[in-house]
Amino acid sequence: MTNEQRKILVTSALPYANGPIHLGHLLEYIQTDIWVRFQKLRGHRCTYVCADDAHGTPIMLKAQQLGMTPEQMIEQVHKEHSADFKDFHIEFDNYHSTHSPENRALSEEIYNKLNQAGHIKTKTISQLFDPEKNMFLPDRFVKGTCPKCGSEDQNGDNCDNCGATYSPTDLVSPKSVISGAEPVLKDSEHYFFDLPAFQDMLKQWTISGSLQEEMSNKLNEWFEQGLQQWDISRDAPYFGFKIPNTEDKYFYVWLDAPIGYMGSFKNLCDKHDDLEFSDYWSKDSDAEVYHFIGKDIIYFHSLFWPAMLEGAGFRKPSSVYAHGYVTVNGAKMSKSRGTFIKARTYLDHLDPEYLRYYYAAKLNNRIDDLDLNLDDFAQRVNSDLVGKVINIASRTAGFINKRFDATLSATVSKPELLQEFIDAEQTIAALYEGREFGKAMREIMALADKANQYIAEEAPWQLAKEEQTLERAHQVCSMGIHLFKILVTYLKPVLPKLALKVEQFLNVELTWSELSSTLVSHKIESFKALMQRIDMNHVEAMVDASKESLSQAEPEPKQKTSSEDASNTEIEPIADTISFDDFAKIDLRIARIVKAEHVEKAEKLLRLELDLGNETRQVFAGIKSAYAPEDLQGKLTVMVANLAPRKMRFGESQGMVLAAGPGGKDIWVLSPDDGAQPGMRVM
Ligand code: MSP
Ligand code: ZN
Repeated sequence: MTNEQRKILVTSALPYANGPIHLGHLLEYIQTDIWVRFQKLRGHRCTYVCADDAHGTPIMLKAQQLGMTPEQMIEQVHKEHSADFKDFHIEFDNYHSTHSPENRALSEEIYNKLNQAGHIKTKTISQLFDPEKNMFLPDRFVKGTCPKCGSEDQNGDNCDNCGATYSPTDLVSPKSVISGAEPVLKDSEHYFFDLPAFQDMLKQWTISGSLQEEMSNKLNEWFEQGLQQWDISRDAPYFGFKIPNTEDKYFYVWLDAPIGYMGSFKNLCDKHDDLEFSDYWSKDSDAEVYHFIGKDIIYFHSLFWPAMLEGAGFRKPSSVYAHGYVTVNGAKMSKSRGTFIKARTYLDHLDPEYLRYYYAAKLNNRIDDLDLNLDDFAQRVNSDLVGKVINIASRTAGFINKRFDATLSATVSKPELLQEFIDAEQTIAALYEGREFGKAMREIMALADKANQYIAEEAPWQLAKEEQTLERAHQVCSMGIHLFKILVTYLKPVLPKLALKVEQFLNVELTWSELSSTLVSHKIESFKALMQRIDMNHVEAMVDASKESLSQAEPEPKQKTSSEDASNTEIEPIADTISFDDFAKIDLRIARIVKAEHVEKAEKLLRLELDLGNETRQVFAGIKSAYAPEDLQGKLTVMVANLAPRKMRFGESQGMVLAAGPGGKDIWVLSPDDGAQPGMRVM
């Protein structure tokens, strides 16, 4: 164990403030939280900050859509995100927002310093402009015909059909996704950050910073392609910070987002006398600074960010650690398959520590994607945590409580085994430190196997039957508890709540520095179940609920593509064109909701009985968050009458009711004008 206390500042990427946290995001927050908890457990001064990323066009438009101000929306999302993180035991020292006074002050300061040093240039560029909405259109908000292959309805920056990349002004017959209007070209002055001026410094940093090999390779590719000026301004209307000394220019969201790391830390420092902002950020700082991020945002963190810091006279990060993407059951998370699982939906069904352990068991320090295979997930957690680790205590604690007055033996029966467990400390610490959590978990489970083998060989349940071997049984069980204590200390960064329960049960605090101290003649508490096995039914219910939770018309989430405008898009682009015949395949009918009721144990569903004129259908609709059953009874609506029936936990759903809206309270069921009758076809 190192004696010197390190000063470490750690961040995770700031999640966008317009959508819920899902299991993909959680890989990052769990990975970072484990690393931070490990550092704290070892006695280092480690501070973990994060924030909501609250600016940008998608956030502005989403708030408009919801009929709120952006400030109201980001405040609500901040509460939801904070609750999700807390319930997954992600222990930030501060969770702030980029829309904060600290972040505004720091963004202006950094911009002014860059400007004074001559790193900001202006240039007039021509961009697509929505004449109806009166706003410039980010690439993702323009669609049109691909200039290369002629395929219709392609994105503004790349073609799904032929893979071509282009600028939105190259599109044939472009359309604004927001208003449908044909965009016009309009000139505007933009502000650029002179990234190429930092090329030499960045090359140097790439070599000296302890970057992952894959990341250095990526950076070298980018250096070879040549670095470009970075457009950091956006025109009004925009939700963000105004650029100093301009009338209507705003910082592009990706300028103030990483500064948000500093803003959150500054906000924390202002609340704590013993934390000094400049200790961590000044050029001569001896603190370590690490950013944990996903592979999609490497460009921002390894080029723009260190260059901005350098240009403004701050220190650069000690390193940037990227991870891969989460897939579920071998495929991209999908709303229709029910594998786009929100943090909250998971928590409604399963213990967060299961996921913390599974991710830990599969994580390494590279940028590989990580598959959450749900069968393997249940099996792994059950066999490792319940079958191996908890099993050690459940086989031994009962005897000690019942037969030996809840007191551990006065001597340790097998010191060499105990020593082996203690000696594993260095290997396990090095693996945690190097973010090789999967290997660390394997080391710990190998020890758990040894502990179980020892207990099985000694068979204390036999020894306890005879008077002359009773004391031996006491020693063996006490030894089991000692080994268990060490294993749970090793697992504490991953399983903080389990560790807390074990601390209560053993009447000790589990710390790294106390790994080798023994609990001879120590009094313990009664043993309560520490963790349940995963029941596959709960996993299935979670997947079902993830299908239910879409307000049925919700689209698959969009993947980010270009690095420049990788900000989030929440306005759904218009789908691919279909022929009339395609449309006519969908049999839409007027239906009367003759009955609406709650479904037992379904958090999202209402059961509807729909009169179609000459038949009645049962439909389960995910609209409980927005409607009380009594509000629906008697209403006319529109249903898809020829949708294949779907078996659900609660019964068969025989069709679908049409509704609009993002979900939650914001779902609106369609209804026809007066006069329409049940059974009429909708065309
Ligand atoms: N707001 C930006 C980050 C700004 S940091 C100054 C952003 N937000 S995000 O909400 O889209 O993503 C937040 C983090 O979650 C990113 O690091 C991203 O890579 C990560 N993930 C989002 N989806 C993910 C998976 N499916 N799998 C793993 N990580 C994922 O980007
Ligand atoms: Zn194309």
